[in-house]
Amino acid sequence: MSDLTTRDGAGTPDHGHDFTSEGQDDLARPLFRGPGGLPAADIPHRPRRSDIDPKAARRAERQVASLFILSMVMVVFFVVAYVAIDPYVNIYVPVFGEIGYQNFALGLTFGLGVFCIGAGAIQWAKKLMPDTEVVQERHSLRSTKHEDVEAAEQYERGKEESGFGQYRIIRRTLIAALALFPIPLIVMLRDLWSPKNGGFGPSPVVLLSQTAWVEGMPIVTDGTYVKIRPEDIPVGGLVSALPEDIERIQKEEHNLNARGKAAIILVRMEPDEIRAQQGEGWDFQGILAYSKICTHVGCPIALYEHRTHHLLCPCHQSTFDLADAGNVIFGPAARRMPQLPIGVDEEGFLVARAPFAEPVGPSFWERG
Ligand code: FES
Repeated sequence: MSDLTTRDGAGTPDHGHDFTSEGQDDLARPLFRGPGGLPAADIPHRPRRSDIDPKAARRAERQVASLFILSMVMVVFFVVAYVAIDPYVNIYVPVFGEIGYQNFALGLTFGLGVFCIGAGAIQWAKKLMPDTEVVQERHSLRSTKHEDVEAAEQYERGKEESGFGQYRIIRRTLIAALALFPIPLIVMLRDLWSPKNGGFGPSPVVLLSQTAWVEGMPIVTDGTYVKIRPEDIPVGGLVSALPEDIERIQKEEHNLNARGKAAIILVRMEPDEIRAQQGEGWDFQGILAYSKICTHVGCPIALYEHRTHHLLCPCHQSTFDLADAGNVIFGPAARRMPQLPIGVDEEGFLVARAPFAEPVGPSFWERG
């Protein structure tokens, strides 16, 4: 710290080179050179326009404040998008394809909000804060007590020189922009609430209870969309599956969440190994269908240990016993895995006998 000198000669004399290491000849050369091979310390300092022209300084001040104000506007747009846009409406965006309109609007407004604060801070530093250049000699990194005191003094000096007290409009708009900035995070907490527990907005219980599974819906393989016969699944096997209608629902109803909510796994065990189910006879010849979405915070699960019939979530190690009604036997999940009652149609393909009897996915709303 004590080696910091300003380019105008204040403080310790400048030795004409930057960042050199004393006692090491090969490092005793200037490390950074400017145009024409001059040591950086010898390049004449050119004042910025805002240093010599008060009008330019005021213009820069307005630019910075405008960026902070724009950030505040983005926060307002974020809240409006969150409240007003239907989360199930999709739009087509070149390169990305079809995406949720609300997600797109939230990402755009939040991103622009962050960008405007950052851009405003950079503009402020580049155009209005002091641009005094300093040279620092390289030396032992351990600081002495004296250097600590000096650092504290420099910090205070920097605070003063940054103009935080001087540029009132910038200070106020920055404080206002930073004060508004946590609002998007707070607003999104709405998703944790429901009318049931005194919150507002659509109940997550309702949203997660509505899946694409209805009575008679054929079960198809995830990815290839092929109908499944019971004999396609060997004892000890696991198949990831979806409702047959899922592609149509996604395309016609523009409902991208439908796929995630409807994802299931089919596992097969010997019928006498099944100790309990969530409903009488909900299996078909030892084939059980469970939601694939972890009831902790919603990771997809397909790690199945066929000898113990345990299903392990890779995210936080919640473990469910599929031979015992999908109950939780380990980990942070607070609720069993929802089971789908299944049977076969007249052609012998597996179908759902009814929708899920309870909401799929995370169960935060049930916590006390
Ligand atoms: S999401 Fe499965 S244990 Fe956390």
